Amino acid sequence: MTRAPVSPRAAQISPLASGPSPKPDREQVLAHLRAEEFARLDEQGQIYLDYTGGGLYAASQVRRHAEFLLSGVYGNPHSENPTSSISTELTERVRRRVLDYFSASPEEYAAIFTANASHALKLVGEAYPFESGDRFLLTSDNHNSVNGIREFDRARGAETTYLPLDSEMRVGEDILDSYLKRVGPGQHNLFAFPAQSNFSGVQHPLEWIERAHENGWDVLLDAAAFVPTNRLDLSRWKPDFVVLSFYKMFGYPTGIGALLGRREALRKLRRPWFAGGTITAASVQADRHILAQGEAAFEDGTPNYTAIPAIEYGFELLEAVGIDQIHAHVDRLTGWLIDRLVELRHENGQPVVHLYGPRTTERRGGTLALNFFDSRGRLIDHERIEAMARQRRMSIRTGCFCNPGAGESAFGLSKRKIEECLSGSGDSVAHDQFRRCVASKEGSGAVRVSMGLPTNLADVATFVDLARELLEV
Ligand SMILES: Cc1ncc(COP(=O)(O)O)c(C=O)c1O
Repeated sequence: MTRAPVSPRAAQISPLASGPSPKPDREQVLAHLRAEEFARLDEQGQIYLDYTGGGLYAASQVRRHAEFLLSGVYGNPHSENPTSSISTELTERVRRRVLDYFSASPEEYAAIFTANASHALKLVGEAYPFESGDRFLLTSDNHNSVNGIREFDRARGAETTYLPLDSEMRVGEDILDSYLKRVGPGQHNLFAFPAQSNFSGVQHPLEWIERAHENGWDVLLDAAAFVPTNRLDLSRWKPDFVVLSFYKMFGYPTGIGALLGRREALRKLRRPWFAGGTITAASVQADRHILAQGEAAFEDGTPNYTAIPAIEYGFELLEAVGIDQIHAHVDRLTGWLIDRLVELRHENGQPVVHLYGPRTTERRGGTLALNFFDSRGRLIDHERIEAMARQRRMSIRTGCFCNPGAGESAFGLSKRKIEECLSGSGDSVAHDQFRRCVASKEGSGAVRVSMGLPTNLADVATFVDLARELLEV
């Protein structure tokens, strides 16, 4: 195994070199965790900066899960036999733990296990009682798995409206208010937004939840990119539906997400089918079924009962450090990185980096989308940056990150241009062909770096080193 290439710059930079002094215990705890639990990163020389893509698991999470699997016999839940009862008990215990972690009362919220955040979104979209005259309002900044809900509302004659983004990739409060007021009596209205953008890192205000409620909207909060480094307190904020994926929070297990639904809001949903596990009775001859109540009505088939218990180890990791400490750590690295990137200038004064979204750490998380430009102001294709990163064993992401609305806004793409590039090719328009066609002065994609609990200053400094190499072009 090769050792991590320690950046010469990183070696010179003490974590105390800039910004307000952190509490020494926080940085010590995290440095210790990095060495003990994430040693594989440095042993393999990997620079991982794609935490919005997926979190990393601590070694002990996997060890504990292996011990758990090897020390018990676990059968398919929902039966009375001994191995089944254990699985049911464990699944219910973790369900309570999930609600507990988010300070949600079990009387008010149900925790529904899903395959991932996208699956949780689909459960809401396909069952929301959209009818003609109803509305689906969403920020242009949304993951495609939220955008996809528009296909359900469109099929049932409801109207989709996107809220535009301003130059900081945020939504203006006045614009939001004017749209929230556009509801008729007795309609079903769903408002969806991400607590944190997976493109720009912008944190859209959780205060919107109450404002939307006051205006007669149900609220779907996409918390997938927010919860890995931020506290979501459901005793304070009361969205009707919250979606997330556990692998984004703590890397393992993959393949499990959750829909946290207010029980009152879940009762509004109309499931389009039934499946094993979701009914209390079904008859072939009578051609009827009776849907189960609460979470059971939404969990199709057998839950991932051997992996669900591993969620507890992830929560324990976050709780051992403290989510507020993790937030502060990532916030500090984000500020450090932004300052270094935006100050980079070519000899003629031209900026090297264009950062999309806020240039401070205020109301933003540890996800940065940016593009690089040469000394003549010409865009450097993100594929070139990705190749440079690969040479350094650095995992970053490039493209639009499944968030086309944020991308269109960032790159200044007009509706006309996009329609032009999509027309004439039917459904067969190739990705590369589309990308080339829409490429504007700002390009058709960006570079994304994102930070998490295990990230250290050497990781982000290595990215700054890469950026500095572009000073010569
Ligand atoms: C904000 C946001 N929402 C939803 C998703 C979809 O998550 P998953 O792919 O786990 O379903 C992602 C994934 O990157 C995301 O960042």
